[in-house]
This record gives sequence, structure tokens and C-alpha cells, in this order.
Amino acid sequence: MKSLPYLLLLFLSLWACKDKPAPAEPAAPVIGTLAENAMVVSAREEASKIGVEILKKGGNAFDAMVATEMALAVAYPYAGNLGGGGFMVYRTQYGEIGALDYREKAPLAAERDMYLDSAGNYLSEKSKVGALAVGVPGTVAGIFAVHQKLGTLPMEELLRPVIALARNGYVVTEKQAGRFEQYASVFEKVNEEASLYTLGQKAGDTIKNEALAATLERLADKGRSEFYQGETAEKLVAFLQSKNGIITLEDLDAYEAQWREPVQFTYKGLNIISMSPPSSGGVCLAQIMKMVEPYDLSEYGHNSTKSIQLLAEAERRAYADRSYYLGDPDFVEIPLDTLISEGYAVSRMENFTFQAATPSSEVTHGNITMAEAAMAESMETTHYSIVDAFGNAIAVTTTLNGAYGSKLYAKELGFFLNNEMDDFSAKPGTPNMFGLIGGEANAIEPQKRMLSSMTPTLIEKEGAFWMSVGTPGGSTIITSVLQTILNVYEYDMSMQEAVNAPRFHHQWLPDIVMFEPDSFPQPTLDSLSQLGYTIDVNNAPVIGKVDAILRLPDGTLEGGADRRGDDTAVGY
Ligand code: DON
Repeated sequence: MKSLPYLLLLFLSLWACKDKPAPAEPAAPVIGTLAENAMVVSAREEASKIGVEILKKGGNAFDAMVATEMALAVAYPYAGNLGGGGFMVYRTQYGEIGALDYREKAPLAAERDMYLDSAGNYLSEKSKVGALAVGVPGTVAGIFAVHQKLGTLPMEELLRPVIALARNGYVVTEKQAGRFEQYASVFEKVNEEASLYTLGQKAGDTIKNEALAATLERLADKGRSEFYQGETAEKLVAFLQSKNGIITLEDLDAYEAQWREPVQFTYKGLNIISMSPPSSGGVCLAQIMKMVEPYDLSEYGHNSTKSIQLLAEAERRAYADRSYYLGDPDFVEIPLDTLISEGYAVSRMENFTFQAATPSSEVTHGNITMAEAAMAESMETTHYSIVDAFGNAIAVTTTLNGAYGSKLYAKELGFFLNNEMDDFSAKPGTPNMFGLIGGEANAIEPQKRMLSSMTPTLIEKEGAFWMSVGTPGGSTIITSVLQTILNVYEYDMSMQEAVNAPRFHHQWLPDIVMFEPDSFPQPTLDSLSQLGYTIDVNNAPVIGKVDAILRLPDGTLEGGADRRGDDTAVGY
């Protein structure tokens, strides 16, 4: 049965429109895809469909995770990957929760100052492009860890439709064609040769990736060790070393995904479960929500001056802490309980007032100058949410970091390699590609995981699963997840409306509030300027690309698939 109030709303809005001339552009749907049993929402229709196919066969959300993750690696090479890493947060049908960290690691030969020249200048390209930018990939370890602990169907069965997709091909979308056009010459330059992704495919063309099909087939036959010790490992290391990389067979052999305890906190009756370090996502989300919890956001109104101000001030303070305290928990001590506590949140907001902006220079020590916030091309991670018919729910965010990662394409294996090393703090006080300033806690060390902002999040309401949510967007991930949750909980939006709604972002440094263009009323922006906020409506064409699933009161699942991309919800 569909959710009655939502259908009623849909009917009423259609009725209200019946005598009006048809709009030139169809309006974005107010209600997302609805499903009675199970759902997958991801960046590509093919991946969502393959996930649902596994669910329909009787597989659970964890089986579907394996297939969806690999299908994204085939059809969404921009961010889907075998050469990157990610995080999964889960809640089983029995209410058990957990998190998997399959984040990349610094190679054994990595050095703290590996991106500095002899005069100490940061050579910023080196951590972003080419073999030195590559962290030891974790994705294959991640899917095998999930499968071993929580999966039910054989791996060969999960990979079969993915191998078929790689072999038979996927159809290029308009948005994808634009990206291929933009990057083809970069791939050729970085790799010093032509490859599958330098052919200038157009929208509607079909891309078959036989090399990736063969790699996946070997994984299906031989298991995890194929990637970390076998033929694939050897080919990968030979490739990286031919490009002057430092990753060795020893690095691959030493890689392990880690089960972690997720960050858990409450917000006005919700129980929020999110990713723990080495992602900053859960901690920062908790800090921001705890800082704004005492205030009546719903009364202030969605995207009102007061709401934006309050959130921006909480964001500023949380990101300042992120920079100082957060890093790989296997290497640094993090005062996690304090950071996410109510008392600490209150103390952080003591100097907040609605009368004027608190300058970031007063929120922390150090006189840090303007950072380069490269928001223009910033949707290269990917998030998917899955809920199965048994009641298991997962939220997974996976990435190569930048668009197509380091741009290095292992032609023989059929996949791109990450440039995750840029997420380390290469030089204290110097921003990374997201304008984030890192500290000592996130300095490079061999075998260390670089700090992330990825925020795969699950929410319980009244003890039951309520929402799965996450997004790409680098530093804007945390604030996009935050706004999506608040849009539903504080502002009564449907899941799809919450995803559609325009977003803004503040990250302490640079001391700027970024807004999606043409989507906030000028009087609101003017009033924020008058309060002392620096407004930027030009440099963040898109903030976040959220995929989410909401469980409605009658049990129906509503998907929220972001219109900013090709994202698609599929359910049954
Ligand atoms: O882990 C992180 O925070 C980044 N590597 C995520 C990169 C990302 O979201 C790129 N897309 N916008």
C-alpha cells in the first residue's frame, strides 16, 4: 500500500494544476519513488537496478551493497571504484549497528613531507594527480568484509550481473558525456596513452569495459586475495611503479578493512548513527546538531536568515575542531565523547549571538588567510542507500576523491586509481582541494588513513529505522547531510523535497557562506551580509548530491534521489 497522506497530497497538487497551462519544464517531483518492500538509491540507474535484482532474489542489503558498489565502479567511473575506498554504516533488522572503514591508507614508503620541495613549499599537484597521489585502495577489502560478515548469497552470484554490465556495456548519460569530454585529454596526458576513457564517448553511446569484466571475474573466482596478493595485485603494482608510484605488493598485502563503532547521538528524539573517524563526518554532524538542538529551527523557517545563521555558526565551530582534533584513530587520540557531548556543544556556542557573525579568526587561534575552496567540480564521491525487505538498512559512501581520482587509469585492469593522499594535511595551514585546513592529527604517516568528510548516516525514530542518507561533496558532505535531515525533521518535507531543497555551506575557513546559485532570495542574502557574513553565490554550482531513503509512518519507503545528478531510486 502506498502512503495515503503522500498520495493525497500528490492528487491535490495535480488537481490544483488541472486548469493551468502546462509549465515549460516539468516541476521536480515532490514525492520520491515509493516502494513497499525494499529500495536502492544510487548515482546510476544501472547500479540501483542491479542492487534491487539481488534483493528480489532474496539477498539482503549487504549482498546488494556488494553488487551496487561494483556496478557503480562499472557505470560511474567518476567515483565508483575498485581503486578507492569508502565507509559503510549499517543497522540490521535486529537493531544491531556497526560501521566498516575501507578507507585508503598511506603507503609504507609515504613520508610526512612527501609533497613539499626542499624549501618547504607545498607542491599541490603531486597529492592530486598521478601515482604519488594514490592511497592503498580499500574497496575490494570492503566488499569482501561485508560479504563475509553479513552477506548471504555467494559472491559469484553477486558479481554476475556486474560482470554482465561491464561486458555488455552501459549507456552514457548527458551529464557523463560532458565529463568525458572535459577529462579525456587529461587522462591521455597523465597516462601518456589513449585508453577506453579517451575516446570521447557521447550521450547514448554504450561503453563496454572488458578489462574490468575480466578483473571482476578473477575476483569472483579467486576471492579477496586476487586483489591484494594475486595477479591483479601484481599488475596494479607494476602499473603504479611504471608511473613512479611508491605502492608495493607489501602495501597491498598489509591492507585490511576495519570494523568500527559508529558515532551515535540523539537529536530531539532521533537516534543518529553515523561514520566514526577516520571520517570526520559523524563527529562533525553530531557537534553541529548538538549545537543547534536547543534552538527552535522549525519556528525560524527553512532557509530563513536565522536558520542559516545558526547553522553556519555551528558549522564554523565544528569544522574548526575538525581541523585540530581529527585524524586516523589508530594513530591519534581523539576526545570523541567530549566533542559530541551536549555540554561541550553549549560551551562552543557561548559566544554565539543572532546580532552578528562570529569571525572565524575568533573561533580558533592562528591567523589563517583565505583558502582556495575549489567547489566547482566537487561531486566526485558517490553515496548509496539500501533498505531490504528484512529490515536491514545501510548507508555507504565511496570515493576516488577527485573526479576520476588521480586520473591514472590501470588500462589492463579497467579502473581508475584514487588521489586520496590529498585528504591528508600535506602542510599545516595549507588547504587541500576542498579548502580544508588540516592539523598535526592528520599529518601523513606510513599506513595511516587520511581524514575524510564522508558521512553515511542512518537514523532511528522511536526505536525503528527511519532514514538512510549520505552524499558526495568533499567538505560539503557533512553540511548537506545535516540540511537533508533537518529538512525532513524540522521542516516537514518529503524525502525528495528535502533532497531537492537548495543548500548552503560554511566550513570555518575560508570564512565564507557558500550558496547554490539562483536559489536563495536576495533579501535573505542581504540580511546575512549585513550581519557580517561573506556570501558566495558563484562558486558552488552544486552543494552535495544526496541519496536517501525515508521510512514513512505506514512502512512505505520513499526514495530521495538527487536531481543534481543522474541519481535514481529503484524499489519494489
Ligand atoms: O573523504 C573525503 O572527505 C573526500 N575524499 C571526499 C571527496 C568527495 O566527496 C569528492 N566529491 N565531491
